[in-house]
Amino acid sequence: MSTDHVPRIGLRVEGIDAAYDRLQVLWDVSLHVAPGELLALVGSNGAGKTTVLRSVSGLLKPVRGHVKLGDTDITSTSAEKIAELGLAHVPENRLVFPSLSVEDNLVLGGYVRRKDGRYAVRRDEALHLFPRLRDRINLLAGALSGGEQQMLAMARALMSDPSVIILDEPSLGLAPKVVAEIMTALAHLRDEKGLAVLLVEQNVRAAFKIADRVMVMDRGRVVAEGTPADLASDERVRAAYLGGSSTSSSGVAAPVTRSGGAPA
Ligand SMILES: Nc1ncnc2c1ncn2[C@@H]1O[C@H](COP(=O)(O)OP(=O)(O)OP(=O)(O)O)[C@@H](O)[C@H]1O
Ligand SMILES: [Mg+2]
Repeated sequence: MSTDHVPRIGLRVEGIDAAYDRLQVLWDVSLHVAPGELLALVGSNGAGKTTVLRSVSGLLKPVRGHVKLGDTDITSTSAEKIAELGLAHVPENRLVFPSLSVEDNLVLGGYVRRKDGRYAVRRDEALHLFPRLRDRINLLAGALSGGEQQMLAMARALMSDPSVIILDEPSLGLAPKVVAEIMTALAHLRDEKGLAVLLVEQNVRAAFKIADRVMVMDRGRVVAEGTPADLASDERVRAAYLGGSSTSSSGVAAPVTRSGGAPA
């Protein structure tokens, strides 16, 4: 089989401001994610996490600063072209097409690569990552459980053979076991496929377990950045942004204590 034709490239955001009409919601946000790296973006409701993802994937044009995919400046590039260049956006609320089959959702996901003749290869990889979808390939997407729909949203994104994948709260509303499956899939994409992964998560515990680095946003700005161990041991960050004490269900607990102890 031929190797992936899309070279693995990273993502760089340089000092972006973003606004909805005249309402500014991001100030001077910078980040980078290298191939084979997972950056988690956390922060309270309204902090601007979704807006960062929309600014990266071309759905919202930043009013200042730059977004780069590898060496290519994509700040003014259309969302469709950005997808062609190798960035896949898995938006919040797992927006699958409910009245289409699982298969047809995958076909649509592969649309930007429709001419390269590798649909079957990518389909196989995606179904290998999420075997539940293989058993449900002819079902309507709307009949899937929430967790299965999230898997389908991710599988669909992978059909575009991205180098960079950005995800908005994939664990929202899902049972811990399903969250674990999704996080395992993300780790696989990072470690085995060399993807650059930008993960927005309110499930701080899950995010800290998997991330190489974490960025904390508050009111449109980046307020802290570091390894999970660094941030979990910073009392100020912890108290203000990460759910306070280590006993909170969404807070940062044992796996990432200051000793950097092994995951539970
Ligand atoms: N379409 C929009 N029009 C106007 N303002 C918006 C729009 N979308 C978001 N905002 C505002 O932008 C700010 C950042 O919102 P954003 O959705 O990026 O935050 P978030 O960190 O993703 O929050 P959450 O954790 O609730 O998803 C908020 O103040 C929000 O009210
Ligand atoms: Mg959001």
